[in-house]
Amino acid sequence: MKTIVFANQKGGVGKSALACQMAYYFHQILNKRVLVIDLDHQRNTSKALRTGGIATVAATTSSKILADPAANIDRAEFVLVAGDGDLIKIEKKPTEHNAYASNLLAFLGRVAGDFDVCLIDTNPNPDIRQLAALVVADYALAPIELNQEAIDGIGDLLNHENIGIRRIQATINPKLVFLGIVPNKVELTPFQKDNFHALAQAHPGLLIAMEPGFAAIKKSTAIAEAQAAGLPVWKLGKTSGRDAGREMRPVFDKIASLMEVSYAA
Ligand SMILES: Nc1ncnc2c1ncn2[C@@H]1O[C@H](COP(=O)(O)OP(=O)(O)OP(=O)(O)O)[C@@H](O)[C@H]1O
Ligand SMILES: [Mg+2]
Repeated sequence: MKTIVFANQKGGVGKSALACQMAYYFHQILNKRVLVIDLDHQRNTSKALRTGGIATVAATTSSKILADPAANIDRAEFVLVAGDGDLIKIEKKPTEHNAYASNLLAFLGRVAGDFDVCLIDTNPNPDIRQLAALVVADYALAPIELNQEAIDGIGDLLNHENIGIRRIQATINPKLVFLGIVPNKVELTPFQKDNFHALAQAHPGLLIAMEPGFAAIKKSTAIAEAQAAGLPVWKLGKTSGRDAGREMRPVFDKIASLMEVSYAA
């Protein structure tokens, strides 16, 4: 099982949307057994996947897999471990923080034979949930928006004293591979084009190289509608959804290939 975490302390950049859409991609297009863990108390991913009704909702919730060393789930082709209200209590128990990360790691070890891919959605706070996810993950992906504030936040994303990806790679999780930054909600305005250009100049190694250019996902109301309906965007049943799905596909293919996950009959 390969574990990927969607991380960025900036809110609203598309962590949950890309986690859900990639989960559908792995399940429906690559035919993989998929586990999604929602560590965000806002529960946007849980809500979307519940609404869509495609995923099986596990009996246990994500605060339990952090807090309970014996937490387990039944196997199925596509499982959601939903967020719950207790997630906000997690940060307030610093003496348990090491245990939370160990419990999550042990849980992933117990279910590793039942799933091919695990996607972890995180909350936009530099706290133990985000840290625990980065400590146990094989891969991290950071959606961003092409505005100055988000670009300025890249330093923190990499070097934040607690949850900076580079710091975690250098200390507790050397196997963590940072796949890169994926500009999301991209609009081809002169402002965003300039920001994209500045980003490519400043951090070329952090963008995901594609043929041609870099991985990015355009702004499309179909993606927001698909999230509200809990569906894969390509199954929204309208042209804009199929178009958005067609545009996302090469980006998802590239990410899957970087994770060495491919179609299985
Ligand atoms: N490419 C896109 N085009 C249009 N809307 C999008 C796109 N990506 C995400 N959205 C929408 O933008 C909003 C914020 O996205 P999302 O909830 O995925 O961000 P997030 O990073 O998970 O936020 P938070 O940090 O609060 O958890 C949602 O309504 C989502 O449906
Ligand atoms: Mg979210």
